[in-house]
Amino acid sequence: MQAVKAVNQGIAPVTYGQGDRPPRGDYASARADYTCDQNWSAYTPQEHDLYRRLYERQAAQMHGLACDEFIDAVGHLGAPQRIPRFDQLSETLHRRTRWEVVAVPGLIPEEAFFGLLAQRKFPVTGWIRKPEEFDYVVEPDVFHDLFGHVPLLFNPMFADYMQAYGAGGLKASRLDACELLARLYWYTVEFGLIRTAQGVRAYGAGILSSAGELRYSVQSPEPSRVPFDLRRIMRTRYKIDTYQATYFVIDSFQQLFEATSPDFTPIYRAVRELPQIDAGVVLEGETRIAIE
Ligand SMILES: [Fe+2]
Repeated sequence: MQAVKAVNQGIAPVTYGQGDRPPRGDYASARADYTCDQNWSAYTPQEHDLYRRLYERQAAQMHGLACDEFIDAVGHLGAPQRIPRFDQLSETLHRRTRWEVVAVPGLIPEEAFFGLLAQRKFPVTGWIRKPEEFDYVVEPDVFHDLFGHVPLLFNPMFADYMQAYGAGGLKASRLDACELLARLYWYTVEFGLIRTAQGVRAYGAGILSSAGELRYSVQSPEPSRVPFDLRRIMRTRYKIDTYQATYFVIDSFQQLFEATSPDFTPIYRAVRELPQIDAGVVLEGETRIAIE
């Protein structure tokens, strides 16, 4: 009966991003699975304009920093001048990879989140940040969720990975392993890098929607870039209030999908026996991936 915990009872969620403030967003109007109406007509011209400015800032710097799969698909979001209508976007997306975008009031509890992903429904926050949060917003808003996450859902392999992640999450809840699995999400879906013939590129949504971290993650000599390793990731803590100190680099989305296909039950068990690793620590003998 784990689904019971995922039912919206108007209680503030507690997952993916911590803060002292209660989350913004109208949870009272959300349905039992935490989805709600986008209420597109309620966006003001100023909010559409803020979306446009955020979009244009990222689009201007994505070439040479974002992976090709992202660049090729970002146009599917529609014209940058307006916050997209989720229903229209879902039609296009569904034709390509059978995913759809659903509105949510903001952060939602883990089980509700996993449940939506397992049904190929990507939850996108309805509201947009305030103008004074142009450079940084604590909780994910519509710009982060849409611009950062949705383009890669047009990639069939990544789309399948996200669904498998959701199904794995429902299982992890039963095994009390959500913290370990959240690290996988963090270091791939949010802050993942991918190796390409042209060099390392970003595919993680936290990077792609960030004004500063996009260039930092790909070009700065400061952070460590190490090869993707599932167990290593599950052992590694992360920071939510600074740029990442370590990025994990995949060779392809196929590698990511295949590496995460096995049953995680014995992996969780093995990982729990090993010491945790602080963000930024490079282990002895560990390969560092060079940037050119
Ligand atoms: Fe995100």
